[in-house]
Amino acid sequence: MKLNFLVYGSGAREHAIAKKLAESEFCNKLYLCGANDGFCELGVVLPEKNILESALLNHVDVLVVGPENPLCDGIVDEFSAAGISAIGVNKYWSQLESSKYFAKRFMKKHNIKTAKYEVVETFKKISAAPVVIKADGLCKGKGVYVAFDPKKAETVLSEFLDGKFGEASKRVLLEEYLSGEELSLISLWDGEHLLSFLPARDFKRKTADADSLNTGGMGAYTPVKLSELQVKKLSDYEVSLKTALLQEGADFVGFIYSGLIWHDNDFYVLEYNVRMGDPETQALLFHMESDLGELFCMALQKRLDKYEFKWKQGSSACVVLAANSYPEGVSVGKKISCIPEKNIYFAGVKKDGDNFVTNGGRILSVCSCGDRPFNSALKIAESICFEDKFYRKDLCEN
Ligand code: AMP
Ligand code: GLY
Repeated sequence: MKLNFLVYGSGAREHAIAKKLAESEFCNKLYLCGANDGFCELGVVLPEKNILESALLNHVDVLVVGPENPLCDGIVDEFSAAGISAIGVNKYWSQLESSKYFAKRFMKKHNIKTAKYEVVETFKKISAAPVVIKADGLCKGKGVYVAFDPKKAETVLSEFLDGKFGEASKRVLLEEYLSGEELSLISLWDGEHLLSFLPARDFKRKTADADSLNTGGMGAYTPVKLSELQVKKLSDYEVSLKTALLQEGADFVGFIYSGLIWHDNDFYVLEYNVRMGDPETQALLFHMESDLGELFCMALQKRLDKYEFKWKQGSSACVVLAANSYPEGVSVGKKISCIPEKNIYFAGVKKDGDNFVTNGGRILSVCSCGDRPFNSALKIAESICFEDKFYRKDLCEN
């Protein structure tokens, strides 16, 4: 079976997805929507406006959605109604990501471990820290603040309630602070089976300091080495998530990203996303040897229980090259030079004549595979040049 795939989204994650699909034996024609200049040549670019009409005209069989916003806006519901299959959650299930309160209620109902929380809609005094302040809605990964001092917590709480993130932060969750190592578990759900990728870890903070700003992600690696107990608890967690989705009759084919933390000898859920993680996807798909197109085809046939992942030897790492001012600002128009041909996924870039120039907060993802993949990825990161370049030099695997 060969299908026409349409990859929706503009960043390095979508570049990684598009590259794997372009190599797939199950892909007939590859279409792209929103692709940046660094990967638009992998397929035929369709305009964002009236994308459904273009997809129908071009006989797209499967829509693959990268980022959360179109999912939360209901793109999968629209395509499904028009007879085009999709890898992505429907609007109802996108609430797992678009409302932290919805996600908490889902976890409570199904006895999934998570941090204690309270919902706040008007300002209140905070007497104890650390405490985690979370905007209920979508904030591009920036709506979470871990406060180590009550005064700072109060300041952030009032900024959020005053609309720092518009409607998304008018309702806030004050959450118990959990300490521990984090894990990203990305799973594909086909309506009956749940299949997880290797466990990955991303580095969310701008620097190694515990109180530095949260970003979309500054790097990632996979697989994360786990103890025997962790392997068991992770498998228990997957069973509880699968059972919950079955009990709910969750009728979509798409990704669920569980942001987990190892705390008190168990995995607790810090957050759900309804898409693959960025930059975890770059590390995972760089590490994946099996066919992504086949994975998607089998998911659409509800046969994920029959799919076998194949992975490269060792582990794979991804280092994100960002603008110095990221996550608060972006870099625009700075010439990027010494870009290697391989190991690169493009994000915030644009073509200016023959050159690439910066065009965003996160600019490029550099990937490498081996025994110590961060060593080689960091060397490549060092060799790429642009004014205002920032990347974390401390990244390493466990
Ligand atoms: P989230 O978007 O909810 O995953 O939060 C982003 C990051 O904030 C997480 O990856 C953690 O590093 C941190 N974080 C979120 N919730 C908590 C919590 N309850 N305790 C400690 N750290 C947290
Ligand atoms: N890397 C975290 C995320 O994609 O939300």
